[in-house]
Amino acid sequence: MQEKIEKLKQEFLEGIKKVATADELFVLEKKYLGRKSEFNEILKGLKDLSPQERRKIGPLANSTKVEIAKMIEYKRQEISAGGNLEKERIDVTLPGKRRSVGHLNPISLVRAEIEDIFTRMGFEIADGPEVETEFYNFDALNIPKDHPARDMQDTFWIDSEKGILSRTHTSNVQVRYMEKHKPPFRIIAPGRIFRNEATDANHEHTFHQFEALVVGDDVSVANFKFVLEKFFSEFFKQDIRVRLRPSYFPFVEPGFEFDISCTVCGGKGCRTCKGGGWLELGGAGMVNQNVFVAAGYPRNKYQGFAWGFGLERLAMMKYKIDDIRLFHSGDLRFIRQF
Ligand code: FA5
Repeated sequence: MQEKIEKLKQEFLEGIKKVATADELFVLEKKYLGRKSEFNEILKGLKDLSPQERRKIGPLANSTKVEIAKMIEYKRQEISAGGNLEKERIDVTLPGKRRSVGHLNPISLVRAEIEDIFTRMGFEIADGPEVETEFYNFDALNIPKDHPARDMQDTFWIDSEKGILSRTHTSNVQVRYMEKHKPPFRIIAPGRIFRNEATDANHEHTFHQFEALVVGDDVSVANFKFVLEKFFSEFFKQDIRVRLRPSYFPFVEPGFEFDISCTVCGGKGCRTCKGGGWLELGGAGMVNQNVFVAAGYPRNKYQGFAWGFGLERLAMMKYKIDDIRLFHSGDLRFIRQF
């Protein structure tokens, strides 16, 4: 009897594997659990067994019947769900998949902060193309044809015959903006620039600058110094002094390099400022009248100041980063710190 039950179960298992439709399942159910099924005959015959055999066969027959009924029910659900339930089963006890959330690069963070401070001071944000003409990058900025910056060493030329290049500074925005706007105005123009330079801890070939241009009837060097001090003090959240040193850029007259008091020692002298108390930051000056003329303004009608400095250098000071190449390294150990 026991063998018979096990044989029936085996047959059933073979049978259910082949079932694909509700009709086929109905036939199978009838065959194994129906009133006239072999299984029912076995159950009916239990009463004729000896008490000893009944104790052994009874539970086996019953549990097999329950098992078959469960499998039929499971198959029924699978068919009505239109697929294979086993494949769709979700193991809720499996550990979850950690989703990594992206975040801003420190350059974007610094850029956003700069834009925030300057828009609060009434500046507009302007933009210019990264692929530029020789005219806006050099000629309109009073940069002579023989200036070393035009050499292959500094400029990535895209088509030197046609005078198309990757802009070497954000100063290309100056004349582009002035051609379309009349003074007074104040703008900043942050963006990416490219230079054909060897890289080291302080130099990249692709980096960001941020240009400022303020033009009006009586804009002065004093205004320039005030705006810079205000900006740096807000940006570094401490009192910062600005120092101007004479310098030369063809598009400004007079021209300056400007330094800020050391953000680490406050100007007393430390390792960061190499004992001098000052940190070099960028180039600046009063807009050369030739640049106004290139933009279509009358000579000597307006005055203005402009500056340009490196965003990476600013981020390096703020976050104490000692190698500029880390920004583009793709090193997650670096980037995950922001
Ligand atoms: C200029 O690019 C001028 N256009 C700045 C300017 C604008 C002067 C308006 C006057 C008026 P310079 O080549 O010095 O200047 O670059 C300005 C700043 O860019 C530097 O002070 C530095 O902060 C950053 N910089 C220059 N070269 C690199 C480099 N290879 N890698 C990273 N930062 C750099």
